Amino acid sequence: MTERPAQPAPLRPAAPRDPVVVVVAGALYDRGRLLAARRSAPVELAGRWELPGGKLEPGESPEEALIRELREELGVEVEPGERIPGEWPLKPGYVLRVWTARLLSGEPRPLEDHDALRWLSRSELDSVDWLDQDRPAVAEAARRLPAV
Ligand code: CDP
Repeated sequence: MTERPAQPAPLRPAAPRDPVVVVVAGALYDRGRLLAARRSAPVELAGRWELPGGKLEPGESPEEALIRELREELGVEVEPGERIPGEWPLKPGYVLRVWTARLLSGEPRPLEDHDALRWLSRSELDSVDWLDQDRPAVAEAARRLPAV
């Protein structure tokens, strides 16, 4: 029986990493104001305010997800802008990433996930009870509020 040449050790596949669910939210601007949305569910988040958005679906870019989510939740068309630097943990396995966005058409309505909306000027930003995880992004979004 002939000896077979030594084979290199097979490469081990990279250890699978826990998939992270990315939630994309929008800092939506219109005439120098930022849109805040009050969650209607789940109970532990209901009544708190957030930047509207939702989970990235397989095959979607974050910008595509943002356009889809704001269409579904608010009934508006938006143009995504820049990503606000940073990433904020939500529940285990979920992270929040935020993009600026400009309103192209429609008047936002709380169609899904929310029961109230408010356009806030810079001086009004502290008047709602933001979800803790959204606060750093809201602070950054405020710095980018376009002058009217
Ligand atoms: O709409 P979809 O079901 O894809 O997502 P969602 O329920 O709106 O958001 C997924 C999770 O991200 C929820 O736990 C939200 O509370 C959280 N979230 C957040 O913490 N801050 C935001 N600005 C948007 C979502």
